[in-house]
Amino acid sequence: MESGSVCRTVKVGYNNALFSMSMKVYIHTYGCQMNERDSEAVASILKQANMEIVNNESDADIVIVNTCSVRDKAEQKAIGKLRLLSLQKKKRPELKIGVIGCMVQRMKEKLFEILPEINFAVGTRAIADIPEIINNVLNGANRILDIDDAIPEAMEQLTSHLNQGPTAFITILIGCNMHCSFCVVPKVRGAEWSRPAISILKEISTLVSSGVREVTLLGQSVMSYGRSNPVWDNNSISPRGYKNSFVKLLEAINDINGLERIRFTSGHPSGCTAELATAMQELPKVCEHIHLPLQSGSDRILRLMRRGYSVSGFCRAVDRIRNKVPDVAITTDIIVGFPTETEEDFEMTRRLMEEINFDSAFIFKYSERSDTEAAKLKDDVPFEVKDQRNKILLEDQAKRSERINKQLIGKDVEILVEGPSTRNSRRWMGRTRTNKIVIFESGNVKIGDIVAVHITHCTSTTLYGTISQSLTG
Ligand code: SAH
Ligand code: F3S
Repeated sequence: MESGSVCRTVKVGYNNALFSMSMKVYIHTYGCQMNERDSEAVASILKQANMEIVNNESDADIVIVNTCSVRDKAEQKAIGKLRLLSLQKKKRPELKIGVIGCMVQRMKEKLFEILPEINFAVGTRAIADIPEIINNVLNGANRILDIDDAIPEAMEQLTSHLNQGPTAFITILIGCNMHCSFCVVPKVRGAEWSRPAISILKEISTLVSSGVREVTLLGQSVMSYGRSNPVWDNNSISPRGYKNSFVKLLEAINDINGLERIRFTSGHPSGCTAELATAMQELPKVCEHIHLPLQSGSDRILRLMRRGYSVSGFCRAVDRIRNKVPDVAITTDIIVGFPTETEEDFEMTRRLMEEINFDSAFIFKYSERSDTEAAKLKDDVPFEVKDQRNKILLEDQAKRSERINKQLIGKDVEILVEGPSTRNSRRWMGRTRTNKIVIFESGNVKIGDIVAVHITHCTSTTLYGTISQSLTG
């Protein structure tokens, strides 16, 4: 294969006997939960093709870096990592380096120009091709670029999971049809495409039979499920009278025996309909948490961002959900330093965050992305100002989160046991239905149990407590 040539000839699919010798693969993942899920799907198909997935980069024959393009910092991190790998390759020429994810979609051949040691680069809709591509690389092909935008259905080959515990991510739609002016995702991940409901239900049922108790449905704007292409064989009203495709999907998943919890992310305020609020109230397995990116509390900035709602529209969406699900936790994303953002705009965001009382928030400094609508505006808020605004919102949010968490001290919360905590293996962790992390002494429980934990103390990010009752059989 020539340098940078687009390899569209690889067949989608793979066979188990592809690799007679077991190669060791390490996958390094940057970015969002969708990337985490994509990495898991890649690991899973490589395992089926006789490869070994290792947890240590230095043990690997092949290192795959899954990249994110949402902010420049995320791209710089991935490039830094790839440079380090390229240096290692000088000492270990047999090492193969692959890149997947949004950066491949954005940079294409340019990736090989800046990082000539890369052996293959595979776009987000072509990852089912990876076993075949690795086979080609091991047979001497080099600098393979595979970006196949035409067949999102190929994603249907990526429904297998690694056996990793009681929780799982399920991608239900890919791409995004919104036009937020700052965002590169629609450009790199392409147009929205929703998976057939029947396939999602089958994937979840299989997971449940292997011990999964909680699923998180993933999509850039998850409530748009079914808007761009048909997902149900018959378009009738559901048993509980729901009409919206996403809500009908929640209902059908809710009816899967053995599953305990359903989460979804990310939301967009436009999807917070009365029907969704009703479903969140009526469907017992749907957890009391919604991630609703606000981005800004200034109507002028929201218009420039092309978010499609105003501050009052966002507040109405929040009210709709809270009226039906009073204990719902609401989390958000905020961008500070969007072009032309004044001190006054920023203060509006600050006040609105307090008014809405978000449970937690990701705060991002605006990062100009080429070929977006916002890139036509001058990136005129100085870095120091963005940094300062970022710090202020983080501090505010830490106080707010701690205040909200403190209200749970002395109460029992329901958690799903996920296993030993990463920091201290004598302690275990799980999450509340509102997605708060709880650390507790392990006691007589096992992974996948649902237990009540009595909360004794907390920080802004974590609740601590002791098991008070087992709620599973
Ligand atoms: N649809 C997803 C958005 C993915 S990007 C969602 O709604 O969660 C995740 C977050 O990154 C966005 O909500 C936004 O807050 C932030 N983001 C996106 N583009 C950005 C940019 N150019 N600069 C800074 N932050 C950005
Ligand atoms: Fe990006 Fe807006 Fe879609 S933030 S992913 S364009 S909903």
